[in-house]
Amino acid sequence: PSETGRVLSIQSHTVQGYVGNKSAVFPLQLLGYDVDPIMSVQFSNHTGYPTFKGQVLNGKQLWELIEGLEANNLLHYTHLLTGYIGSVSFLENVLEVVKKLRSINPNLTYVCDPVMGDEGKLYVPQELVSVYREKVVPIASMLTPNQFEAEQLTGFKIASEKDGREACRHLHAAGPSKVVITSISIDGNLLLIGSHQKQKDQSPLQFKIVIPKIPAYFTGTGDLMTALLLGWSNKYPENLDKAAELAVSSLQAVLSRTLADYEKAGQGEASDDDDGDEESSKTSISDKKGGGCDYPDFSRR
Ligand code: ATP
Ligand code: PLP
Ligand code: MG
Ligand code: NA
Ligand code: MG
Repeated sequence: PSETGRVLSIQSHTVQGYVGNKSAVFPLQLLGYDVDPIMSVQFSNHTGYPTFKGQVLNGKQLWELIEGLEANNLLHYTHLLTGYIGSVSFLENVLEVVKKLRSINPNLTYVCDPVMGDEGKLYVPQELVSVYREKVVPIASMLTPNQFEAEQLTGFKIASEKDGREACRHLHAAGPSKVVITSISIDGNLLLIGSHQKQKDQSPLQFKIVIPKIPAYFTGTGDLMTALLLGWSNKYPENLDKAAELAVSSLQAVLSRTLADYEKAGQGEASDDDDGDEESSKTSISDKKGGGCDYPDFSRR
């Protein structure tokens, strides 16, 4: 299907590596979308490294960009996409952006990845949780939390597929008609649960995808996942299951290539290590996390 659109994507930029807009813009362009990125931060590299440097856009600066677009009648979007947001004041301004865009296009689809944490840990200020729960979830069209984020938003533990399905029903009741819990860790595998409530007060159509877990840690995959879900679910608006299958399949293809390239690069280093000052970021990340299979980002080419 050829359905496309114009996406305003408010996400991070990293000079090196692929997270945030670096993970979202190109894949959406490949699917035929016009993508207008706003860089919410510009960092040297992603925050999983020992250090990072750079600049953070504040809410007022975000609003200036919106005003500039509006002054030239350039605020016509079909989709808004948001990912990691680091402060309450920036999130409050994003809420104003949603209002503004919907005043121009009442049919705007807002795809929100409520990035707050993972594996039991918050990595945003605690105050953000209630703003997401009370103000953002109610106006989102599609929500893509992970297991931990779905727990934060619903207030209950998700330990099974059944819990995941229940969490989706709670989230529908609060607002979004489409919910995808992008990963639940169960029995060494990843479980994705999708849920589409086609009519308010109707029970949603739900499905799951079991994803074999690759024994490695990737960064930027959540951002790529949400971008692909936006892209495909707009092309198959009545088939969230099909959209999710297409998104997961692209992700798995990217991850297997990443793994293959990483292994190839690793061999290259091993056979050519007479150069003492060639300490790469790969090495330091692995050391920090105790060795094993570690990946600074999903596509290092
Ligand atoms: P977010 O970070 O956006 O809140 P998330 O925690 O679900 O969401 P990831 O953990 O990056 O994000 O997972 C997103 C998707 O990436 C998964 O649905 C899966 O398809 C893929 N993925 C990530 N890590 C792995 C892995 N180790 N093995 C296989 N697939 C993976
Ligand atoms: N944005 C920045 C600046 C990051 O450092 C990270 C992770 O380190 C992300 C976004 C999110 O990555 P993921 O898609 O893996 O959740
Ligand atoms: Mg995760
Ligand atoms: Na997610
Ligand atoms: Mg993540």
